[in-house]
Amino acid sequence: MRRSEIRDLLKFTRQPDLISFAGGLPAPETFPLKEIENICTQILHEKGALALQYGPTEGEYVFRQQIANWMAREKPSIKPENILVTSGSQQGLDILGRVFLDPGDTAIVELPSYIGALQAFTAYRARLIGIIQDDEGMRIDLLEKTLDKYAKRKKKPKFIYVVPDFQNPSGVTMSLDRRTKLLKLAYKHEIPVVEDSPYRDLRFTGQNVPPIYALDKENQVITLGTFSKLLCPGLRLGWLMAPIEWMDRMVVAKQAMDLNSPSFTQLIAAEYIKRGLLKEQINNIRTLYKKKRQLMLDALQKYMPKGVTWTKPEGGLFLWVRLPRKMSANDLFIKAIDNKVAYVIGSAFHCNGKGQNTMRLNFSYASDAQIDEGIKRLAKMIKENMYPT
Ligand SMILES: Cc1ncc(COP(=O)(O)O)c(C=O)c1O
Repeated sequence: MRRSEIRDLLKFTRQPDLISFAGGLPAPETFPLKEIENICTQILHEKGALALQYGPTEGEYVFRQQIANWMAREKPSIKPENILVTSGSQQGLDILGRVFLDPGDTAIVELPSYIGALQAFTAYRARLIGIIQDDEGMRIDLLEKTLDKYAKRKKKPKFIYVVPDFQNPSGVTMSLDRRTKLLKLAYKHEIPVVEDSPYRDLRFTGQNVPPIYALDKENQVITLGTFSKLLCPGLRLGWLMAPIEWMDRMVVAKQAMDLNSPSFTQLIAAEYIKRGLLKEQINNIRTLYKKKRQLMLDALQKYMPKGVTWTKPEGGLFLWVRLPRKMSANDLFIKAIDNKVAYVIGSAFHCNGKGQNTMRLNFSYASDAQIDEGIKRLAKMIKENMYPT
């Protein structure tokens, strides 16, 4: 197992006077403290014994029902039996690694891709094949070539992992055309698609694109969801949604990991949804992050030198900055920390070690004033290193 570069780098970003665009942290002012306090009291009064007891590995049925209803907005056939509650969607990734991957197996990921997935899959000693992304998502023409190559060798990848909505790290959303073509290829080669979508409900602009599971006609998609970015990450609540015939294996894998996710937090989230609070919460978050995203885009436009480009995500928490080819965001990182501003190096999201000239910026966590000041510092530093005196 490799040490996580992100975790190592995040150690630097804990300094109190540092402006951090590094973590993927939601804005803490969005956490519904009062409502959760009130709900906790009610649950302990009414269902204390259930809440504090062991629970079913699959999850509390009321909660699974609510998640199924949530997911059925886009595909009415979804049932609670399709849902396995997980301790964050990170655990969903670990479960998939455990179920699908043996040492030496291959799996397809995007270039760049979510670092937590890369870690989870490589922990099972899988070999990851990265497919380049452009502003419409994974390049399906390159995926096709890769799958054909592996089909000839009779060693097909175990799954194709994508983060199709406002991707972590790039902020890119996969187009409908690419989603449809991805499924076609997955059917042709009989390879499951893993759709990891923590940011799906955080769209600020642009047209809704259907989730891949809603387009799937052959029961070949596994979708991961989470309340980390909608409610709060501290509850550690996510879910894995899969065709019913695959569920047993997922449940057995999870059972060996932690028996069950806490019933207490599941009941809290269930009551929160029952009270109809989730939609309003999401609307508030969207409004806040939309503003912060715009502040960051404006600051980038104002301060960055020519030759630096960035994505303009339609939702989510991140955008992706590309420096001129010869510059290294890795080399600049310590200088950035000296200037009291932090980002995550883009190469950490590349399973092939490339992407040295890229960086991920988070816009949900820093205050409005910090966003402007932080980008100004970053731009100054980049300029100085572009044209050394
Ligand atoms: C794409 C993606 N998947 C999974 C996770 C894990 O989220 P959690 O375990 O908090 O649900 C994250 C967190 O940032 C993410 O960006």
